[in-house]
Amino acid sequence: MTEQTPPAYAGPARVLSGVQPTGALHLGNYLGALVKFTRMQHETETFIFVADMHAITQWQDPKLLTAQVREITAAYLAAGLDPKVATIFPQSAVPAHAELAWVFNCVARLGWLDRMTQFKDKAGKHKERESVGLYTYPVLQAADILLYKATQVPVGEDQKQHVELTRDIAQKFNHDFEAPGFFPLPEAMIAGPGARIMSLRDGSSKMSKSDPSDYSRINLTDDADAIAQKVKKARTDAEPLPETLDELKGRAEALNLLGIYAALDGRTSAEVLTEFAGQGFGAFKPKLADLAVAKLGPVGEAMRGFLADPAEIDSILTAGAERAREVAAPTLHQVKKIVGFWGD
Ligand code: AMP
Ligand code: TRP
Repeated sequence: MTEQTPPAYAGPARVLSGVQPTGALHLGNYLGALVKFTRMQHETETFIFVADMHAITQWQDPKLLTAQVREITAAYLAAGLDPKVATIFPQSAVPAHAELAWVFNCVARLGWLDRMTQFKDKAGKHKERESVGLYTYPVLQAADILLYKATQVPVGEDQKQHVELTRDIAQKFNHDFEAPGFFPLPEAMIAGPGARIMSLRDGSSKMSKSDPSDYSRINLTDDADAIAQKVKKARTDAEPLPETLDELKGRAEALNLLGIYAALDGRTSAEVLTEFAGQGFGAFKPKLADLAVAKLGPVGEAMRGFLADPAEIDSILTAGAERAREVAAPTLHQVKKIVGFWGD
């Protein structure tokens, strides 16, 4: 017997992504995620949420969490997300995320989760002391995405594996429950030089909120002086920049600074290299600092402006949550029917 290919998903394209409210946002979040959200909102219906349910998989001070949710929202707005165009909401205000995640916990296999590298990175040697939530976190992420039947997920490279898991869950659900084409198989939108921004102190580790050194990252709230200082102190080597990207192999820090320049300027690394070939970092760094200040300065300023009016942020989140609940409800209702739960 020949296997028949199940019908493909036939619904409209939709974009969905989110960021965890677990600390100050940095250049990696901005280039890997926020800039893409902003660009995509004009092309495709877009849902962007604040992942507060993901945040509590590791301890969060309840006194700070709401403020952090507002801060991420302010960053979204400052980066150019428009609440009249995109739906912006807090994850925990849409209970259907948790309900769908439970069903998916029963679809995903232990072996799949055992392979998740982010869990291994976050848990380190003390995996048995982490929360169960941290382990099933990628299943909740699949629910976030599929609840809205999103087809495109703009994220940094570190999230690629989670989006692949989401595809596996969608495929197994569609197959096991004989609901071909019910869930789409979403794609991670990763391309571009901003997909993996590395630490300014160490070109082999990712720029991260949790790095103890503040000099490892540029925060969205850093002022012009701080941005310039951090670029100046960024680790580099003594060689000039070569003509081709191939020749940059093995020079992780140089490659990273070049990638940052390209991503900030909306160009490819190869294009930027053509401009700076033969020059050393003494010449390149001041140019990069100027560009970073010019691009990020206004974002930080806009963020502070939005944060000065928390009531406005709350009203955006309230309206977004309402819209998200409306879109989520029919999917969850259909899932309950497909699974065979009681009710009509
Ligand atoms: P997180 O801060 O882990 O919630 O990440 C929020 C978004 O930023 C996700 O799409 C990540 O993939 C992205 N991101 C985080 N760190 C980086 C980085 N160093 N370079 C590029 N993208 C990143
Ligand atoms: N796990 C993502 C991160 O750490 C955040 C996230 C949660 C997310 N749910 C999502 C991203 C759904 C995209 C789609 O960055």
